[in-house]
Amino acid sequence: MAAARVGLGFDSHPLVEGRTLILGGVRIEHDRGLHGHSDADVLAHALTDALLGAAGLGDIGQHFPSSDPAFKDADSMELLRHAMDMLEGRQLRLGNADATLYADAPRLGPYRDAMIQSLAMKLRVEPDKLNLKFKTLEGLPLGSAEGTAVIAAHVIVALEAEARCCV
Ligand code: C5P
Ligand code: MG
Repeated sequence: MAAARVGLGFDSHPLVEGRTLILGGVRIEHDRGLHGHSDADVLAHALTDALLGAAGLGDIGQHFPSSDPAFKDADSMELLRHAMDMLEGRQLRLGNADATLYADAPRLGPYRDAMIQSLAMKLRVEPDKLNLKFKTLEGLPLGSAEGTAVIAAHVIVALEAEARCCV
């Protein structure tokens, strides 16, 4: 059996007024949203990077450049799906993904099941392949501007190679 391939993804965006907060494709009730060229869904971005990394396909910015007007306000779940299509074209499939979202606010626990369902549907995998954890930051110095609230995500994935032939 071929060894599993692992990939690591990270992303972080600042919280600003006047934007909708979307995480894992789910709209979250909050007074601010994440600033970014696309919809700034840090969970979708970190997961996309983890998948691309595990497949040896570089990173999200190479495939979906933020300088490209085509990706202005893009639905990041569609970029995630595109990355999954690339993996599937290489006979790779998701073994499991484990993510940590860092946010002082809002509380994300109530959205855990909705985010897992949303990601599982987009990736076309069983929900039990996905795990989400939430942590407050409590002073961890993330981001360049002091005092700027951010939401960040770490994701690790393992891929399995589809069997190419029978025994
Ligand atoms: O980071 P901390 O140890 O304070 O997290 C405690 C619990 O609060 C965790 O189990 C986590 O699921 C939850 N949490 C949350 N939303 C956040 C941060 C933490 O639901 N934004
Ligand atoms: Mg991003």
